Amino acid sequence: MPNRLDQQVEQFNAALAQVTTAEALYELEVAYVGKKGSITLLKGEMGKIPPAERKAFGAAWNRVRDAIEAALEQRRDFIKGEARARDLERIVDLTMPPLRPPQGSLHPLTQTRRRLSETFIRLGFDVAVGPHIEGERFNFDDLNVPKDHPTRDMQDTFFIEAPRMHGLTPDGPAMQELVLRTHTSPVQIRTMRTRKPPIRIVAPGATFRCDDDATHSPMFHQIEGLYIDEGVTLADLKATLMAFTEDFFGHRLEVRFRPSFFPFVEPGAEFDLGCPFCRGSGCSLCKGSGFIEIGGCGMVHPKVLSACGIDPEIYTGWAFGFGIDRMTMMLHRIPHLRLMFEGDIRFLEQFPC
Ligand code: PHE
Repeated sequence: MPNRLDQQVEQFNAALAQVTTAEALYELEVAYVGKKGSITLLKGEMGKIPPAERKAFGAAWNRVRDAIEAALEQRRDFIKGEARARDLERIVDLTMPPLRPPQGSLHPLTQTRRRLSETFIRLGFDVAVGPHIEGERFNFDDLNVPKDHPTRDMQDTFFIEAPRMHGLTPDGPAMQELVLRTHTSPVQIRTMRTRKPPIRIVAPGATFRCDDDATHSPMFHQIEGLYIDEGVTLADLKATLMAFTEDFFGHRLEVRFRPSFFPFVEPGAEFDLGCPFCRGSGCSLCKGSGFIEIGGCGMVHPKVLSACGIDPEIYTGWAFGFGIDRMTMMLHRIPHLRLMFEGDIRFLEQFPC
């Protein structure tokens, strides 16, 4: 009897090694430890062995049955694992390109602002910044804007009430009225007060005016340019703007000055660039004129230099300022200013970067 038990175990082990499917494993289980399995039946034959050996045989039989059951269990897990791996291979195609997680992009305005800064950095300018909340002094007084100038009007400027009560003090010396800066020109003042010529900066940023209609937003963006040194002339300004067009638009455009007035420059001008789309031959974007109005510029007024502690007898300089919003609209042919500030994802998605 014990011999037959050993024989059965050997046979079982050999058969188990061949089993690769759940069905075959089940058949093997039935054949050995099922109701009529060969191991099960051996137990029924216990009566045939001498009583003295029965106890030892019983213990041996139990061990064999436990071992077989453990081996079956292990094999079952193995087969299951293999089947799962096969399924996964079928479902997950490792050669497929991965799904892209949804990704945001920079606002078109931010993209333009950065490109503008990068262009001017290449031309030798630093990027300067100033606060959105500005003292009247830097926003108007030191820029030679008369006290009764219409831009100071409540209609155009956002004044900030009672700074004292809010514990705010502007960085100007005396207590003064605060405004949301109406242009980036106060960054000229901040820069000239803290740096010595030669000064070459651009200052991009948000600006604010009480304007709100189809073509104006109360918050908009400008970029200021400032160059101060000995012997700087309007010719330098024109050359710089032309070099700017070459880098920014990829080809040199014409620069046209039209005499104009800003209190902080003398002479002052508005400047136009040759239309970057038709290169001057006339198209719908430049309304056939071949030029596009860009912004204001001029030679920094001696009074402004003096207000900042720069001697106008020694130094001269020029400044320019233009809108980034309109430039962005032109570059991407965006039809309405509103679109830029509504945060509509369907609009923003069209400007991947
Ligand atoms: N600050 C002016 C504006 O907002 C633009 C400008 C800047 C004009 C520098 C001349 C020189 O309209």
